[in-house]
Amino acid sequence: MTEIINGKEISAALKDDLKAEVAALKGAGKSCCLAVIQVGCDPASSVYVGNKKKACAYIGIESRSYELPEETSEEELLNLVGQLNKDDSVHGILCQLPLPKHICEDHIIKAISPHKDVDGFHPQNVGALVIGQQGFVSCTPAGIIELLHRSNITIDGKHCVVVGRSNIVGKPMALLMLRENATVTVCHSHTKNLKEICKEADILIVAIGKPRFINHEYVKEGAVVIDVGIHRGEDNKLCGDVDYEDVAGHTSAITPVPGGVGPMTIAMLMKNCVEAMKLYS
Ligand code: GUN
Repeated sequence: MTEIINGKEISAALKDDLKAEVAALKGAGKSCCLAVIQVGCDPASSVYVGNKKKACAYIGIESRSYELPEETSEEELLNLVGQLNKDDSVHGILCQLPLPKHICEDHIIKAISPHKDVDGFHPQNVGALVIGQQGFVSCTPAGIIELLHRSNITIDGKHCVVVGRSNIVGKPMALLMLRENATVTVCHSHTKNLKEICKEADILIVAIGKPRFINHEYVKEGAVVIDVGIHRGEDNKLCGDVDYEDVAGHTSAITPVPGGVGPMTIAMLMKNCVEAMKLYS
């Protein structure tokens, strides 16, 4: 029997827990605020930013919007980040990526105070993850751990194969699985025998950005498959990096697209924001 991991339901439960926590904190006179910065008006970014603000409203987190024109200079953006770092009423700072080409993303990420870096992108937070110290963790991989835990899937001792090595998903994912005592293999575009390695995975996490790339030939019978990809297919339907129809029947559990990993990312962002307020204000 295949379990379809319901990210919509699990993220809703998480958001409801946070909503109750934020209400209790408000009762104790503490409120939570996320600064949301968008530079330019990339339509996909606008959708993501809109969904993040909606989640804030649902949970009771104030979202403070900074919609800056495409021509904003790096210096102007750094100044805004500097002001928000100093503002005690702001607990989290989210600068939606990608930024326009003339702004160096690394400079902006480094400028955000690690204590307000609710995306978990700052080198200090990434370093903390590597050596197992307290810090914010990138939301998509953190959300995948939450999905696995809340689905009662054992990670300890399992062989986990992560396909993809981005700073936002693949690398932190591998580190988190290691922290959970999995044996971890990371594959990427230069990996020679991808199919054979994937086929050894007890837990296969796919973040390669290629629609329906992984078919059943990559999957061991009974494996858990987590699909991070999201694409608009030629048939105009949303699909992941995994060919769901071909793979699902061979797994013990799988995340669908949409409604799997996606909704968890925003829920974990909200969790990080509440955490930032509790820890550092
Ligand atoms: N762009 C795509 N995903 C993300 C994310 O998780 N955080 C930010 N800041 N930008 C993104």
